[in-house]
Amino acid sequence: MRIIGVILATLLAQQASAQLADVDWWKTTTIYQVYPRSFKDTNADGIGDLKGITLKLDHFVDIGIGGLLLSPVFKSPMKDFGYDVSDFREIDPIFGTMVDFEELVQGCKDRGLKLVLELVPNHSSDEHVWFTKSIAREDPFTDYYTWRDPKGLNASGHPIPPNNWLSVFGGSAWEYNKEREQFYLHQFLAGQPDLNYRNPRVTKEMDDILGFWMDKGADGFRLNAMPHLMEDQTFPDEPPSNDPEFTPDQWGSLSHIYTTDLPELYSYVFIFRKVIDSKQEELGRQMVMMVEAYTSLENTMKYYGDEYIEYAHFPFNFEIITNVNNKTTASELKAIIDRWQNALPSGAWSNWVIGNHDRRRVASRFGRDFSTAVVIMGQLLPGTAITYNGEEINMEDTWISWADTVDPQGCQAGPEFYEKFTRDPVRTPYQWDDSAYAGFTTANSDKPWLPVNDNYRELNLAAQKLEENSPYAIYKKLTAMRKDMNAVRSGQLGTSTVGDDIFVFTRYLQSADEKNVLVVVNLAENEVNADLSGVPTLKSGAMITYHVGVNSSYTSGQELSPSSVNVPARGSLVFLYTNAASTTVLASLLLVFSVILSLLH
Ligand code: NOJ
Repeated sequence: MRIIGVILATLLAQQASAQLADVDWWKTTTIYQVYPRSFKDTNADGIGDLKGITLKLDHFVDIGIGGLLLSPVFKSPMKDFGYDVSDFREIDPIFGTMVDFEELVQGCKDRGLKLVLELVPNHSSDEHVWFTKSIAREDPFTDYYTWRDPKGLNASGHPIPPNNWLSVFGGSAWEYNKEREQFYLHQFLAGQPDLNYRNPRVTKEMDDILGFWMDKGADGFRLNAMPHLMEDQTFPDEPPSNDPEFTPDQWGSLSHIYTTDLPELYSYVFIFRKVIDSKQEELGRQMVMMVEAYTSLENTMKYYGDEYIEYAHFPFNFEIITNVNNKTTASELKAIIDRWQNALPSGAWSNWVIGNHDRRRVASRFGRDFSTAVVIMGQLLPGTAITYNGEEINMEDTWISWADTVDPQGCQAGPEFYEKFTRDPVRTPYQWDDSAYAGFTTANSDKPWLPVNDNYRELNLAAQKLEENSPYAIYKKLTAMRKDMNAVRSGQLGTSTVGDDIFVFTRYLQSADEKNVLVVVNLAENEVNADLSGVPTLKSGAMITYHVGVNSSYTSGQELSPSSVNVPARGSLVFLYTNAASTTVLASLLLVFSVILSLLH
């Protein structure tokens, strides 16, 4: 009975949302992840702030963004740079004040931009008052976290952790607290104790926090690290992964069958979604709920819910980040894209993520030419496009010495392994121009919190604004296509390969008059002359018009036959076409028709 009630309520809520302003604004736009520490510093302390984002809002309008996704700006001791929150309802002074946040909200509203917040429900900071009270067993906080007794004492009299679970950042996932005389669970840093969602009060706390920020003006959330939300309550040891790439104290050395992807976690996704939906109705503003989950494709799809109940609007699609690399062939690329699209539950909305604050930058993973091909795919494949700050100008990772390393994931790995794990290289300051510190900060004595990439004198936004076919210029053309073209917004997807090296996809509509899109990607190190006339969604005789691309010899608006297309090495070209009968075919038909007519006379 209860479940029927829930289904009915959900269906009614979904119907009601059709009456909201900006219905499904998140579907066809590009959402841009801002990493606030590195975006723009306005108070010369070397760390980006909210005022900096507000100052640069016109940049988002300029490049055709619909919504910002803000990495955490909540109060934090910054052990994990804001992902360790000591007060979920406060702005950290490093980033500014609540007034600054309100100004940012207003600035976004004035420009028609949405503002989405990133939040990690899995844990708080060990400096959160909940944790202090939990240590002291002060009710109702006693069971806000996962506490366990030691397994015993080792030879030197030290308490032994309850089991072999490891932290994502390396070392035991258990930390002993002398005052409470128990271990607490932390799947990330010891400074990030895991919240206990089996305690309904914790769920309620998080629900209220979501509501608080929506009241403040947030248009939704990306909920991070979701696979870690629940753990097996019998606390068994996890089996080894037998992956030789990892040392025994590294997270990858175990198979995480008791700490990630537990079936019960999805009902919490639904609980969060209900909170978001009911706030959406109350405020009359369309919200979005996105989920970050590095897991199998099958588990990722579970975040969508099922045919009766929608959970997240979408889980982030990390297929390009985790499965595509410089060795990927055209047929593998096609298979990866098809696999994701085919796995989507019916009615589910797709999305494409090519980078973020945790993974190497797209330009460094693929090289500067092919990364633009990846940007093109991210923008023109079906669904929401997600951009990580700097991708629109093709920023690269910055090499960071061990001495300059600050990311806990790098620091905990030690000098020998830090380069494999550190995320500092993808988090260095945004490169605005060629002035000192790339225009990121006016800090004099205080240097930026992470070094600026040396390449900033050539690689910066101001320079690319002056260049005709710069990554910035290409990016703008792509976001304009998302705005203007129905085929990009709602067209079907056709994928194919030509020879060993060319991957092709089309976005097309049934109507013969609509402009369709043809994207050609060359995965080879050499130029390829491709015959695209066999591409299934291209009608025979159709001509294609060059629109935008990387290193192309064609000029925008140039019409050519698909039977002979030069695709530059590691390049990607975007063409437009219609499936209406071509003018040449029409002209020949007219000619034949008039000849027949004259013969009849
Ligand atoms: C996921 C975030 O993306 C990552 O940056 C962070 O370190 C972990 N959660 C822990 O909060």
